[in-house]
Amino acid sequence: LSTIEVDVSGLERGMSITVKWRGKPVFIRNRTDEEIAEADAVPLDDLPDPSARNENLAPDAPALDVDRSAGEDRENWIVMIGSCTHLGCVPLGQSGDFGGWFCPCHGSHYDTAGRIRKGPAPENLHIPPYEFLTDTRIKIG
Ligand code: FES
Repeated sequence: LSTIEVDVSGLERGMSITVKWRGKPVFIRNRTDEEIAEADAVPLDDLPDPSARNENLAPDAPALDVDRSAGEDRENWIVMIGSCTHLGCVPLGQSGDFGGWFCPCHGSHYDTAGRIRKGPAPENLHIPPYEFLTDTRIKIG
């Protein structure tokens, strides 16, 4: 299917699910305030990839936490393609040196906003086109 709808009503803060979209895993996480604060505190200069990689924004949008998230009113939500930007392995959630995602294939560490921080991956985890249809329903694609 080119678009899917996902019910996220059961997803409390600190919980994640993985869904499949166009044959790829998509991570949906309802982040905690701590995860948001941690990502917010990182200076853009510290990021190997300064781009938001968010298909819903302009290509030159910076990798600020808010631009990686579902936006100002929904900064707790993050939706990302679960494919390491190095060679495509599926990263593990809530692991690695930055408390985000860790790719065990060659050791790429992503932070709580899915931004690459350490290891061989060249780019932040990509964000697919998506929108919230309601507060608990997301359309991806
Ligand atoms: Fe993830 Fe190589 S595929 S680090």
